[in-house]
Amino acid sequence: MVKVDLSGALGFLDSAGPDYGAASLAHKALADGIWAGAEFTGWRQLPRRVQGEELKKIQTAAERIRDTSQVLVVVGIGGSYLGARAGIELIRPKNGPEVIFAGNGLSPDDLNDKIERLGDRDFSVNVVSKSGTTLEPAVAFRVFRGLLEKKYGAAAKKRIYATTDAARGVLKTIADDEGYETFVVPDDVGGRYSVLSAVGLLPLAAAGCDIQTLVGAAAEAMYDLDQRSAENPAWQYAAARNALYARGKTIELLASYEPSFRYMAEWWKQLFGESEGKNGVGIYPASVEYNADLHSMGQYIQEGPRTLMETVVSFERPLRDYEVPFSMGDADGLNYLAGRGLGEISRVAMEAVKAAHVAGGVPNIGISVPRRDEDGFAELVCFFETACAISGYMLGVNPFDQPGVEAYKKNMFRMLGKPGA
Ligand code: PA5
Repeated sequence: MVKVDLSGALGFLDSAGPDYGAASLAHKALADGIWAGAEFTGWRQLPRRVQGEELKKIQTAAERIRDTSQVLVVVGIGGSYLGARAGIELIRPKNGPEVIFAGNGLSPDDLNDKIERLGDRDFSVNVVSKSGTTLEPAVAFRVFRGLLEKKYGAAAKKRIYATTDAARGVLKTIADDEGYETFVVPDDVGGRYSVLSAVGLLPLAAAGCDIQTLVGAAAEAMYDLDQRSAENPAWQYAAARNALYARGKTIELLASYEPSFRYMAEWWKQLFGESEGKNGVGIYPASVEYNADLHSMGQYIQEGPRTLMETVVSFERPLRDYEVPFSMGDADGLNYLAGRGLGEISRVAMEAVKAAHVAGGVPNIGISVPRRDEDGFAELVCFFETACAISGYMLGVNPFDQPGVEAYKKNMFRMLGKPGA
C-alpha cells in the first residue's frame, strides 16, 4: 500500500492542517457519481472488470506478439501511450520484444529514426486511439501499416492490434474492414485514466510484465483507496497539495531518485495537468530526476521563488543493491562508504535533500511503495488516479474533461486544409 509522509509539509500549514472534510466530500461525490464528469469514472472499476475473459484475450495477443516479433511498435499519444511507457520503463521487464513508441509527435526526424531503429526486424503494431481521429497517431499508423504490408503482404493484418472505441471512429471502421484484432477503450474511461485497460495492459504484457499480478494488485489498491478516513493516502495527498496551493505553492515538482521513474512522472504530469488545469486554476505539475537534477535545478529549488512544493516518490527497497567497493590506499577518499549499499546511501541523500529544501521554504510530501515492480506500479497508478480525482473536485473543477486540448487541433486542421475544418 502507498504511504504518504506529510512531515515535511505540515509546518507550512496552519494548525488545522489539510482539509479532510473537503476530501471526504469530494470522495463521496466521486463514489456516488454526483458531480461533473461522473460518466468518466469507470477507471475505478477497471481492475475488477478486466479480470477474466478480457485479461485472457490480452495475454493471448501478447503471447502472439512475443512469439512473432522482435519489436512492438505502439502508436498513440497522451493517455493512449504514456501509461504503458511509464509501466514498461519503471518495471523494465526482460526478454520481451523491444517496444518503440511512435505517433506521439509529427517530427519527421523522429519518425525516420524510429523506422531506422526498427530496421528489418520482425514487428507488430498496436495502434491505440480512443477517438480514432487524432492526427499524430493516425499519420504514424498509416506509415507503419504501410511498412507491415510491404514486409508481410496479406499477413500484415495478423500483426495489427487496434485498441479503440467499441463502436465509433475511423480506426474502428478500418479495423473491422481489415479484420484486425481489436481491444476496447471503455466509454466511461478517459485517456489519461486508461492504463489499466487494454490501452496499457497489451503493451505491458507484450513487453513481458506480469499483468495478472499487476491487475490483482490494482484491484486490491482500488479497494483500499476507497476507505473513507484521514488514513487514506489519497486523501492525505489531495488535501495536503490543495492546502499548499491555497498558500501560494502553485507549482508541484514530482521528484524521484530512480531514473526508471521518468515516464511515470510524464504520465503523472498529464494526469494532473489535464485534470486540474482549467477555469484559470490548477497546480502546475513539473518533474525532476534526482540526483541528476540536484546539479541543474537544485539551485532554483533551494533559493528561487517560493512557489514550489515537492512530492518525492521513493521505493523502500531496490530490486538489487550494489555495494561501494573497498579500494587499497583510498586515493579517492571514499573508503568511508566501502561496503555500504547504494540503496542506503541514496536514502541518506534523499533525507539530506528533504531537510535542505524544507529549510529553504519548499514543503515536501513523501510517497513510498515497497518496490518498483508490478505491484508498485499498480499501487502508484491507483493512488495517483484516485488522489487526482479527489484533488480536482476539491479544487472545484471537473477532473475528467479536457476542453482546452481542442483549441490547437481546430487551428491545425484549418491551417492544414482538412476538409470541413
Ligand atoms: O487523456 C486524454 O484524453 C488524451 O491524452 C488522449 O488520450 C489523447 O489526446 C489521445 O486521444 P485518442 O486516444 O483519442 O487518440
